[in-house]
Amino acid sequence: MKKIIIAIDGFSSCGKSTMAKDLAREIGYIYIDTGAMYRAVTLYCIEHHLFNADGSIREEELKSRMNDIHISFRLDAGTQRPVTVLNGTEVESRIRTMEVSSHVSPVATLGFVREALVRQQQAMGKEKGIVMDGRDIGTVVFPEAELKIFVTASAEIRAQRRYDELKAKGEEASFEEILHNVEERDRIDQTRKVSPLRKADDAILLDNSHMSIAEQKEWLTAQYERAIHA
Ligand code: DC
Repeated sequence: MKKIIIAIDGFSSCGKSTMAKDLAREIGYIYIDTGAMYRAVTLYCIEHHLFNADGSIREEELKSRMNDIHISFRLDAGTQRPVTVLNGTEVESRIRTMEVSSHVSPVATLGFVREALVRQQQAMGKEKGIVMDGRDIGTVVFPEAELKIFVTASAEIRAQRRYDELKAKGEEASFEEILHNVEERDRIDQTRKVSPLRKADDAILLDNSHMSIAEQKEWLTAQYERAIHA
């Protein structure tokens, strides 16, 4: 069977990773959550005190440490889901906190961080058979991807999903704070100079504001079937 690259880009908290992960499992592809990689670098910065009090980053120091930051993924034996590993330690839940969410945007705007992570992402897709989700996968990482999807949903709906997720995990959460974080990240993601979030011309647009997870899954599977038979 022909193996392809599936690039899924879109706004934060719009359910990209759920649908990407489900599809990858169903068709036996590798799944890579590139947001987790930017989050892992951010966690590293927090733990190594590379943020100044005003939230800015000590860029030169981070630059000199980029070679010491090793990010990989492994399949959790229990859940059969990929978990993020930073320098040998599993950090999956620690990269999903509000603290990391509110520090990640400035990290993701740094050119040298993006170059390093994009290089790793391209290496991961060399053999194809991969579903990768992020912001710049169809535009920068794999402009030649055979299937490109751009996912969007309203900011309120995305904030509500994120709120429900955190609540379900028993984390303290304020809807207003989450909505503000979602809107702020949209703004930074779309306006940053390096690889801003934008739909590739040949990406298929999916607004999933009013779709269930099952409906999205069905839609994505149909797109995949079409792409491999193209
Ligand atoms: O998808 P996410 O919310 O986990 O992503 C975390 C942050 O990383 C988000 O603010 C945008 C950034 N990001 C990026 O700039 N490029 C990617 N390919 C993936 C994520």
